[in-house]
Amino acid sequence: MAVIAVTKERKSGETRVAATPETVKKLVAAGFELVVETGAGLGASIADADYEAAGAKIAKTAKDAIAKADVLFKVRAPEADEVKALKSGAYVVALLNAFNEKATVEALAKQGATAFAMEFVPRITRAQVMDALSSQANLAGYRAVIEGAEAYGKALPMMMTAAGTVAPAKVFIMGVGVAGLQAIATARRLGAVVTATDVRPATKEQVESLGAKFIAVEDEEFANAQTEGGYAKEMSAAYQAKQAELVSGHIAKQDIVITTALIPGRPAPKLVSAAQVASMKSGSVLVDLAIEQGGNVEGAKLGEVAVTKNGVKILGVPNLPARISADSSALYARNLLAFAELFKNKEGAFAPDLEDEILKASLVTHGGAVVHPSLKA
Ligand code: NAI
Repeated sequence: MAVIAVTKERKSGETRVAATPETVKKLVAAGFELVVETGAGLGASIADADYEAAGAKIAKTAKDAIAKADVLFKVRAPEADEVKALKSGAYVVALLNAFNEKATVEALAKQGATAFAMEFVPRITRAQVMDALSSQANLAGYRAVIEGAEAYGKALPMMMTAAGTVAPAKVFIMGVGVAGLQAIATARRLGAVVTATDVRPATKEQVESLGAKFIAVEDEEFANAQTEGGYAKEMSAAYQAKQAELVSGHIAKQDIVITTALIPGRPAPKLVSAAQVASMKSGSVLVDLAIEQGGNVEGAKLGEVAVTKNGVKILGVPNLPARISADSSALYARNLLAFAELFKNKEGAFAPDLEDEILKASLVTHGGAVVHPSLKA
């Protein structure tokens, strides 16, 4: 049966890993052979011995792990030396970030790899168990509230004490996709007073069902802002101006603002201006989850805490799932375990059917070429 390699993530700050002892055990039971690079799990508190006990072999280097592999599992796109170590025709499965990491996609094609981008797995019912964008965004939404609460110098819940009452924090979530919904739920659990906004009408009910208040410009453009795929469209300049006006007064009163707004394949929309940040109270915190796509908040800096003149902190923490790596690895590894099932035919042999709806939609390179329609020039 096919050999699956798992190597250590090499991108700076990346603590996740693409397999856990639980998924190794299940993949071995399904007939795969597993080779894990030494130290691959350390960032997620998994020792080599745990992988060995689950049935994997440990390789001394990434090159050793990859050399004989039919499939390479990664969290992020493989590095250049990992791509070069791949057998021609080897399969690669990762959150390739294919829209942005074009050179890696080209290199994978040149190497003859059959590469799948987990971010392109379609959001159909059958693929929910493989939906890595959701599994990771959910944890990022949770973690954003934790980061925001940590940077905020006050409590989130209301507390009535003998020495007086502590007021609850006001938390505003901008962008209510998977991350935003979890951020609402987490902030509510911590006792904050939560409001939220989005441009997709479907989010109104979701926000309200979590006990938060919905705020948005609900005009005709809003009514049509959701694509068939369930994503947001890029809004017109006129809508954005109305949206900015509506939230301006609101933002000024908030203690923590968490922004998660994204548009697939486009830079993140700018939702909070420098003037709006300047209107906030000293000690308030903004957490910009869209920072890696350019950010939603003016003045946010990748990997930095920017403190404005008026004492507002803007957190530009990249890769929040990596700050909760044991859980994010466990969920991502399960997404890959489900994806690997697609590589088997009815008889259980390794024979991926590239016409399968999910494999087809996520296939990025094959037969020496970049094949995904949205990546072809
Ligand atoms: P995302 O990460 O692409 O974007 C985050 C949020 O930002 C979205 O809710 C989007 O509407 C919002 N946004 C974009 N521009 C904005 C603006 N100018 N102002 C305010 N908000 C703005 O979204 P995510 O988390 O990937 O979810 C996208 C959709 O996919 C949702 O409808 C979600 O429910 C759906 N989904 C469906 C699944 C399934 O059926 N299997 C699984 C996961 C998500």
